[in-house]
Amino acid sequence: MKEPKKIRIAIDGPAASGKSTTARLVAKKLGYLHIDTGSMYRAITLKALRETIDASDEQQIVALAQRCRVELEPSEFGNRLFLDGKDSTSDIRLPRVTSMVSLVSSYQGVRDILVREQRRMSAAGRVVLEGRDIGTVVLPDAEVKIFMIADVGERARRRKKQLALAGIDADEKKLVRDIEERDKKDSTRHMSPLQKASDAIELDTSNLTIDEQVDFIFAKAQSIINWV
Ligand code: DC
Repeated sequence: MKEPKKIRIAIDGPAASGKSTTARLVAKKLGYLHIDTGSMYRAITLKALRETIDASDEQQIVALAQRCRVELEPSEFGNRLFLDGKDSTSDIRLPRVTSMVSLVSSYQGVRDILVREQRRMSAAGRVVLEGRDIGTVVLPDAEVKIFMIADVGERARRRKKQLALAGIDADEKKLVRDIEERDKKDSTRHMSPLQKASDAIELDTSNLTIDEQVDFIFAKAQSIINWV
């Protein structure tokens, strides 16, 4: 009997499109490693804030990315992120980080460092990577490529619920504006903009439950893993 294939699954899409939860659950169902690449860009941004380095100073930010140690450790509730050995899982989600991360992630030097690391972590297969440039840049030959979209109103509602769980009461209209702003920055930037790979499957999740999204990707992955 043939060994099951060890594949790489790329999930891209805009902010709050449901990528993270979906990627985490797909990875869990397959027994694969989940790599949230956005959390890596957030970690560099957090380090810049901790060291009070001006985010508009590209050279300094790239130098900082070079000396930064970012590790992802799977846990029952998703990955824990360690920055230079310190658990920073909650801190990377701070609003200060969110508003600065688009600029930090626009620097090619930062992207080169993180893309190299993401490829290294994916080399053996059995991974689900989520981000903005996985299907186009990080793993252009990934066996499954999904591009998740959802309308902005629905994304803001989801983000509001997520924040409420963390005890934060957010204004939905402001969330819509923030998401639109970040979409614009992420998709119009010069370096690796958010873009659907030509061979990616577009999955509109506006009217899908998380289970439906997970089942769709899981079925797609299974058909390739067991294909002989
Ligand atoms: O998915 P997220 O919101 O945690 O991502 C944070 C930021 O990082 C987002 O504004 C875009 C950037 N990012 C990126 O440029 N490339 C990736 N592969 C993942 C995220």
